Formats: sequence, structure tokens, C-alpha cells
Amino acid sequence: MDLFETLESNVRYYCRRWPAVFASARGAIITAEDGTQYLDFFAGAGALSYGHNNPALVEVAIEHLRAGRLTHSLDTFTVEKRQFLEAMQRYVLAPRQLDMVVQMVGPTGATAVEAALQLAQKVSGRRAVLGFEGSYHGMTYRASSISASMAGRAVSAHLGDFVALPYVERATDEDLALLERTLRTPVDGEAIGAVIIEPTQGEGGARAFDPQYLRAIRTIADELGVVVIADEVQAGVGRTGPFFSFEGSGLDPDIVCVSKSISGLGLPMALNLIRRGLDSWGAGEFSGTFRGNNLAFATSARMLETYWADSTLEKQTELNGRSVRNALETMSAAAGGDFAVRGNGLLCGLDVGDTRLAADIASAAFERHLIVETCGAGDTTVKLLVPLTIDEDQLHDGLTRLGDAVASTCADR
Ligand SMILES: Cc1ncc(COP(=O)(O)O)c(C=O)c1O
Repeated sequence: MDLFETLESNVRYYCRRWPAVFASARGAIITAEDGTQYLDFFAGAGALSYGHNNPALVEVAIEHLRAGRLTHSLDTFTVEKRQFLEAMQRYVLAPRQLDMVVQMVGPTGATAVEAALQLAQKVSGRRAVLGFEGSYHGMTYRASSISASMAGRAVSAHLGDFVALPYVERATDEDLALLERTLRTPVDGEAIGAVIIEPTQGEGGARAFDPQYLRAIRTIADELGVVVIADEVQAGVGRTGPFFSFEGSGLDPDIVCVSKSISGLGLPMALNLIRRGLDSWGAGEFSGTFRGNNLAFATSARMLETYWADSTLEKQTELNGRSVRNALETMSAAAGGDFAVRGNGLLCGLDVGDTRLAADIASAAFERHLIVETCGAGDTTVKLLVPLTIDEDQLHDGLTRLGDAVASTCADR
């Protein structure tokens, strides 16, 4: 480990949580260079929903490189971009009657958020943004300024043109009235131009918003000319069951930020879906060198074709999600803890209400060769992002290890 500690900045984080040198991975298993195998219930913070080195996608990538296809292409037309756009239209947009265009942005979720905010400002003519407590939108200056969940970060940019409302699990009349009042109230002397929301919060603690609340956002936004941005970077691409976590809610967003698992293979890729009528970008108004990751286009097209041509994966995710939440309920009861089980599909968490306890459970899981992370306000939630493609035995095995970690950590207190 010496080399890493000498040469890598102090900012390194996950390696402190999981002090192993990882060498290879397949599906839900990561193998360290000493041969130890870990079950990965964090899936690259949601970027590996389709498992490590998904064999079908690896084949596409190998073939792509071997055939000398383009790897980098700025935003020129390429064969792989065409394949990707066709797959997006066929398996994602058309079945959901979404008349949206695709904006390729730079490679990260934060870039997608930046682009969404800039477009919303251009369309509405207003800079002020409404967001939500517990949200996380990335680490660029603007994205961090609208991320309420910045615990443990050195710099949180408060640009003064942002206001955050609390997370809403079950909308009351007061919640709806506060939403309406807030949207009508100028921030920093300016009317609000955009709402940005993770319909199911990731870093905020695996929490789904009440669909009624999401519908209300749409209704009021329509009246006031506010642009609705859904940040689906973590919860999208099937993590909660449906392709988008807002499906069926009535949020009907104007812009959807997509990244993390969209390549299927964990390659850097991000994009925004923009309601056709709102696509007021001029040519080159938003740019970025890495908007043409053709390897990612190719693997993404195959991922969409493999997993989104029918509803098999969606149903399996809903089933597996229920199994995970049932197991978490059992763990909570066995530990005699007053813990809260959270989640939507396979974005799940156990809020143990205590930062130290959550961190100790994550460490105890690692001792049992299971990788999980913590999140939520005060980092009190043990978060599970199980690969969507996991098999039943591995899911059961991981949950057994986690149950053991929770029980032993609680018994030691
Ligand atoms: C909901 C959400 N938005 C945006 C981001 C930022 O993505 P990236 O780390 O790729 O910039 C994240 C990252 O965790 C996220 O969870």
C-alpha cells in the first residue's frame, strides 16, 4: 500500500474503506491480488448495475478495439453513436412515449447536471434553482452548490441562488403548500427557473419521493414556466426497477440527467435527455472533449438491446429489491434495533440512526468480504447497490454476510 499512500492525494477515500488491491472482477465478485474474493454490493457507486465485465458487453468491447473502430470522436457522427441512438430510441424513448433529444455531455454525471442547469437557465432566463435536502448532484462548483448532501466535503459552494426543501416521503397538504409557496418566492431577488430532483435519492439515503409530490412539482412548474430536471444519474438505467425512477409518477421531466450505468460496462459516459421543444442550444454552446466515447456507445447499445427489449430485468429487480428489504427488516428486528429500511427496487438502505454504527457495520461487512457503503444525512444509512444481474445464490450469500455483520456489530455495543 506504501506507493499509493506516498503518491496519491489525501483525498483518496474508498481505498481507506476497503484496503485491498483489487485485480480482477466478474459479475458481483471482485478479486484482490492476494486472491481474496469480495462480493460487491456497491457496484461502483451504481456505475456497474450490469455487473463487472458483463461477458456480452466485454465481447462487444474486445471486438470494437480489435477491429480498429473509433475510440474517441468528439461529437462527430460515428457508426457506434448511430447504434446507440437507435437503441435509445427503440428500447427507452419510444416505449415510454418520450419525445426527447439526446445531448452527449462530458463523461461524468456532474457534467450532465451542469449542462442541464445551463440549459434551464437559457430557456427560463432565470438562474435560481430549487433542490432538495439530501440531494447530491456532483462535485463541480455549480453541481456542488445545489447539492444539499455535502457532508465531509471541504468546499461547499453557496452561490446564493439556490434553495432546498426537505425530502418528502408522504406528501401532506403542508408539504404541497410549502412547495408552491417556495416556487413562487424569488431567491436572491430572482424567480426560480429550475427544479432539480432525484426522484429516488441515492446519497441522500435510498429514499423515494412520494409520486403525488412529484406530480405537484410538474403542475406548479407548468404554471410558472419552471424547468423540471430529473437527476437519474444514480437511480436511473434500471436501478429502481423501471428504466427511470420517475416512471409512473407524473413528474414528466423536461431534462433527464443520465450517467453511471448507461454504458453497461462501467465506462465513462453521460448524457441529457431534453424535451424536444426545449432544445434551444445553439451549435457548440455546450462542449466537451469526451462526448464521443465510442466504446461506451457500443457497449451501451448492446446493454439496452439485451436488458431492455422486454420487462424481464425490471421484474427481477423489483423481486430482488423486495427480498433485500425483507432481509433488512429481519436484520433490524434480530438486532433489536429501531432501524428504518429504505429503498426502491435495488437502491436500498438500512438507516441505523448512528454514524459510527453504520460505519462499523460497513467495516464488519468488509471483514466478511462484502463491500457496502454508507450514505444519508449524517452517514447513518448502510447502502446497498446490488448488481441488477446478480444470481440468487450470491444475493442470498451477501445478505447472510450483511446480517452477520449487523448482528455482531450491534452485539458489541
Ligand atoms: C444523483 C447523482 N447525480 C450526480 C452525480 C455525480 O456524478 P459523477 O460522480 O459522475 O460526477 C452522482 C454521483 O454519485 C449522483 O449520485
